[in-house]
Amino acid sequence: MRVLGIETSCDETGVAVYDPACGLVAEVLYSQVEIHERFGGVVPELASRDHAARLAPMVKELLEGAGIGLGDLDAIAYTAGPGLIGALMVGGSLAASLGFALGVPVLPVHHMEAHLLAAMLEPNPPEFPFVALLVSGGHTQLVCVRGHGDYAMLGSTLDDAAGEAFDKVARLLGLPYPGGPALAALADSGDPEAFALPRPLFNKGLDLSFSGLKTAVRLLLEKHRAAENGSGPPAALRANVAASFQAAVVDTLANKCRLALASADLQRLVIAGGVGANRALRARLKADGQRHGFVVYYPRPGLCTDNGAMIAYAGWRRYGEATGGIPQVIARPRWPLDQLLPVPAGA
Ligand code: KG4
Ligand code: ZN
Repeated sequence: MRVLGIETSCDETGVAVYDPACGLVAEVLYSQVEIHERFGGVVPELASRDHAARLAPMVKELLEGAGIGLGDLDAIAYTAGPGLIGALMVGGSLAASLGFALGVPVLPVHHMEAHLLAAMLEPNPPEFPFVALLVSGGHTQLVCVRGHGDYAMLGSTLDDAAGEAFDKVARLLGLPYPGGPALAALADSGDPEAFALPRPLFNKGLDLSFSGLKTAVRLLLEKHRAAENGSGPPAALRANVAASFQAAVVDTLANKCRLALASADLQRLVIAGGVGANRALRARLKADGQRHGFVVYYPRPGLCTDNGAMIAYAGWRRYGEATGGIPQVIARPRWPLDQLLPVPAGA
């Protein structure tokens, strides 16, 4: 069984082939970061156009590189949402066309379910049930994963996602888009205790909030700007702000994870989504796990950010739901994770 996975929900074009008998067979990933960099954020129209230009050649490159013919594919999985509508339509259209032409099932995948399950592609996958922290540019959610497709929302951000906060603060610091990795690199040379930044909702329930933290950074930079004579913040100040901001986010996320594990009475934590690539977060959760007796599972950084492999895998897990007939393109920009139906045991 070979499943082609297609990811085009935002600014990464990802394609991969997953085979349940031997795991991930091949993948190709292209990031549009250079296209959106000068706009400081993803421009939806440009994202769709670039996916449309690259997707089919990338599938060809993927299959040729792996020595797989189109006729060897048994199913086509694609991200059906949530995401940018035009970008989703590009992946969905190619998936439906391929499925129609090859006469194989076409599987619409929930992007966040795919992030949630990405850890299953690693050599020591977590067992159900577990708590998952989905932490990306568009989402920050704590989910109780009782089984496959059986998800209960424990908490989520009331305003900005953690990745969005990284990106916005990076912009305030004059760092290039996407801000998360650049801010994390700058934080390496700063003092995380230089500024005591707020940790909103710290011990109040399982919801999160990051917009107050972002505003605190903006006010801090404005205060220092008065003394700068237009020369911009000195390098040491920028590094200290980056490190203090990162420490506040890491502290908040780690504390909420601990509270979520306690409330669900579970000892397994799975991290998914782009911010899961953050090294400071990983180090902190590892230390907290040792201290509080829980185990943390991370996909490798390349499986934390958007990719086709997780889509191929999640599609395969929902293979049993495939319907016959002419495939329709499904694109759902908004699609709550807890609307998904559980996958029957053994499916
Ligand atoms: O999951 P993802 O690739 O895309 C979606 O948002 O769905 O996540 C991208 C987000 C961006 O906000 C990016 O800045 C953030 O993840 N990110 C990081 C790091 N790498 C990516 N944030 C903090 N530290 C990182 N190392
Ligand atoms: Zn994502």
